[in-house]
Amino acid sequence: MDGSTGKMALQVTGRRQLARDIAEFTLARPEGGQLPSFAPGAHITIETPGGAMRRYSLVNDGTAPDTYVIAVKREAQSRGGSEAMHTQAQPGTQLMVDPPENDFALVAASKYLLIAGGIGITPILSMARALAAQGTPFKLIYCTRSPEETAYLDEVAAIPGATVHHDQGDIDNFYDFWDHFETPGTEHVYCCGPAPLMEEIKALSGHWAEGRVHFEDFAGVEAVRADDTAFSVKLASSGREILVPADRTILEALRDAGEKTVSSCESGTCGTCKCRLVSGEADHRDLVLMDEEKSDYIMICVSRAKSGDLVVDL
Ligand code: FES
Repeated sequence: MDGSTGKMALQVTGRRQLARDIAEFTLARPEGGQLPSFAPGAHITIETPGGAMRRYSLVNDGTAPDTYVIAVKREAQSRGGSEAMHTQAQPGTQLMVDPPENDFALVAASKYLLIAGGIGITPILSMARALAAQGTPFKLIYCTRSPEETAYLDEVAAIPGATVHHDQGDIDNFYDFWDHFETPGTEHVYCCGPAPLMEEIKALSGHWAEGRVHFEDFAGVEAVRADDTAFSVKLASSGREILVPADRTILEALRDAGEKTVSSCESGTCGTCKCRLVSGEADHRDLVLMDEEKSDYIMICVSRAKSGDLVVDL
């Protein structure tokens, strides 16, 4: 472990295909030995091959782990993270990993409703396994497009109280959650999945007591939008000018150009990539900077130039 940052150099020790475009990776210390423990709902941040930082929920039991198990969906719109994991992370590949963090931990309750959509099954399955082991009642609803795109299908289908629903991507075929939310219950609800699913559950549970419905959302803010355009970033220290293409972030363009970068969430929420803005007008898209900081700083993982080019203190 790197004592200054807590980062660990872990090795891919296992890889298996779970479903179409979804692979499971097992990570361990090259020399073996225990890893920091974690509770269901925790995630790790991995520096993926190529340098993009990505967060992945842990699937395995974290009581005294000597491995971390994650499942990664190859995203069609991948800007480096999931694509690099699928094409380059093989048994023996070393990856830098931050210790587990948990923003989605189970609170004590007498029963639970767990809802997963697609790859959102990863923290939900970890919860289901833990609840089943301790004998706590829960229901699990798992929605995917088709069996071929369903990770851990057999295991989830075998869980008593679990429902697996395939909608074929047809809106008329979406699972109807209303029966579960019409009357506010005493259970705690945990939901992880694509934005439309989480938006639906938020809408259906608006009349529930505050704090009963929990969401895991790794999406952060939208870093690249369809109408974005290219611009240039000049590095104040070297004078080097780097083109940021319309479909790349400043951070990605710097990385692509071989510049050293520091980042963590890469979704505008953690503050790690904060950088002084020497000149230019920024289009701020992060959730970190305060208004009074916006003329002097920029979060390069998500923000861009509003017009013209930028000069940053790098
Ligand atoms: S890396 Fe987290 S805000 Fe940019």
